[in-house]
Amino acid sequence: MIHISGTSALVLLWGGKEAYKSKLAQKYLEQLDLSSGYELYNECSKIWEPYHAILRNRKFGVFNFVESILKDNFDAQVVILAAGIAPLSLDIIERFPDAKIFDIDIENMPMKKKLFEKVSDGSFENKIEFIESDITNKDILTESLIQHGWDKNRNTIVIAEGISYYVTEDELWNAFSVFQTNDKSNFIILESRVPQEKVCVERRDIQERVWEYLTNALTLKFVTRYYDEKVKEYSEKINAEVIEKHTMKDIEMLRFGKNKIFTTDDSGWIEVRKLKI
Ligand SMILES: C[S@@+](CC[C@H](N)C(=O)[O-])C[C@H]1O[C@@H](n2cnc3c(N)ncnc32)[C@H](O)[C@@H]1O
Repeated sequence: MIHISGTSALVLLWGGKEAYKSKLAQKYLEQLDLSSGYELYNECSKIWEPYHAILRNRKFGVFNFVESILKDNFDAQVVILAAGIAPLSLDIIERFPDAKIFDIDIENMPMKKKLFEKVSDGSFENKIEFIESDITNKDILTESLIQHGWDKNRNTIVIAEGISYYVTEDELWNAFSVFQTNDKSNFIILESRVPQEKVCVERRDIQERVWEYLTNALTLKFVTRYYDEKVKEYSEKINAEVIEKHTMKDIEMLRFGKNKIFTTDDSGWIEVRKLKI
């Protein structure tokens, strides 16, 4: 079993087995020791018991957008910024074996590569590149991608899940600008957290308390948040355009065909957007 950090384990515990559907991902998760996340998980559940629903919806929402694009562009390149140890790339490659995936993170990529090779047992060879790189440096990011075979002239889907909070607006949108095209033929899937005042009064405190707890655990100096006008402003700077947005309410409806926990658009605090660039 491979021991991982408490916060990485927390996200995987929140996601549970439900978050990742593929056989590959299930085999991969069996190899990880998540015990370092138990305490964090219990503390967050004390604040709001269904907190895991946020994470499961987020994972579902991101994959739903990925699927919606790849079903018409099955051999596209998929760049997962700050992929971490989460097995999203394994889910994608099992469902869309003609895609080419680039997992990028500042750490843990050699470990992830080794584990992927073990659980995939030779299938999907060279289908996922594991790149250790800082995404906040545009030149380094571009060079690392090119070195690993990314082709600027082929369709690319960029996934930014679980990273928008930890980098500044300029850092994130600079990274996105690497994928600009003349005809907006590339896509970005952006997952982000909304500001406190955009959440309904009854729910407002939940995310603040969970994040206060996490901010201490992660020793974060700031947390970046997004809302419609801000995304529009940054999109325009790099000639990108939002084409669809899903709130927690929308995603819950897609998952279950009804709304139970998220009955209004402002009852959740995570949103997922699909952009063209
Ligand atoms: C909360 S995890 C998200 C993992 C995964 N994307 C998910 O949603 O489950 C945040 C990840 O961002 C990575 N990260 C933070 N700053 C980064 C940077 N400047 N460049 C690349 N990765 C970074 C961390 O190493 C960590 O793996």
